[in-house]
Amino acid sequence: MKIDGRRYRSLWPLADASAVEAIDQTALPHQFVTRRIADLEGAIEAIRTMRVRGAPLIGATAAYGLALALRRSADDSALQAAYRALLASRPTAVNLRHALDDVRSAVAALPVAQRAAAAWARAGAICEEDVALNQRIGDAGLPLIAALHRRLGRRVNILTHCNAGWLATIDWGTATAPIYKAHDSGVPLRVLVDETRPRNQGAALTAFELGQHGVPYAVIVDNAGGHLMQRGEVDLVIVGADRITARGDAANKIGTYLKALAARANGVPFYVAAPYTTFDWTIQDGLTEIEIEERSGEEVTHIAGRLDDGRVARVALTPDGAAALNPAFDVTPAELIDGFITDRGIVAANAKALAEAFGRAPISA
Ligand code: MRU
Repeated sequence: MKIDGRRYRSLWPLADASAVEAIDQTALPHQFVTRRIADLEGAIEAIRTMRVRGAPLIGATAAYGLALALRRSADDSALQAAYRALLASRPTAVNLRHALDDVRSAVAALPVAQRAAAAWARAGAICEEDVALNQRIGDAGLPLIAALHRRLGRRVNILTHCNAGWLATIDWGTATAPIYKAHDSGVPLRVLVDETRPRNQGAALTAFELGQHGVPYAVIVDNAGGHLMQRGEVDLVIVGADRITARGDAANKIGTYLKALAARANGVPFYVAAPYTTFDWTIQDGLTEIEIEERSGEEVTHIAGRLDDGRVARVALTPDGAAALNPAFDVTPAELIDGFITDRGIVAANAKALAEAFGRAPISA
């Protein structure tokens, strides 16, 4: 994707393979800053502080973090220690575990001296695969948007929550891939971008990347979605996911569930876009089996923005000492999801359809 006309990915290896460079998402949209990640600690810091965020990008960063850790020491205990440290960096997105398992199993049988180079190559392959998966998600979702346009005979209004865009992946995004493909093929559309309090990934990141690509959008406050749906001003909802259970319950950024409820109440189709790396086949009940990250209350009580003089500042929103709760994700039950837009096509949100689409043994419950 492009920033000021120049092609970027969210994360890329340096030409001399000494480190990876990532767009620092905590500085967007007001400053474009990249950060070098040169060791395990740098990777963990970038994930924890959300300089890199979004389920697939967290996985890709962790894969490179593991490769960088193995340069220092690559015996079995060092491999395990780095794996565990990275796994603990953020709990909800299962892509993290998937990428770490992938790298670990690619190197575990190799002689210690070969492990770091093999892990680096595997991390690169994970990034390339992510781009390909998202393009397939785009191809699967494009007909959905095009069909809506044909039926409505006007611009399609698509609501999205948080940032499941190219910044959350290596390129294309998940929820945004069908949107970019539809826009690029001439389908008139507008994206309604939930601001996504408390960290405002929608207002800061989704608005930024859609604007850079020239996709029409409007930022809305998180509370506006239900009202707009009642008035027929939302034709489709597409969101991303951080972890999807075998029966189709989907964890995504806090507030997603409320949008799914409003969509169902108003007959608006609600789709979750995700690659196979976001499915967790080991669990079924999203409400009890997905760990929901609790983040600092300061994300609720304070907010950062650009002042009129151009400086970026952080200000308090609440009375001094206000208590705050900050669950970072919620779970949308499968019953509220009209379908998954995946790299295997559009799949119904139930255990049987998902098992068939992904070639898994069906689960019993
Ligand atoms: O806390 P974040 O910003 O990492 O949360 C991101 C989301 O919830 C995204 O919607 C999800 O990871 C899908 S990204 C393709």
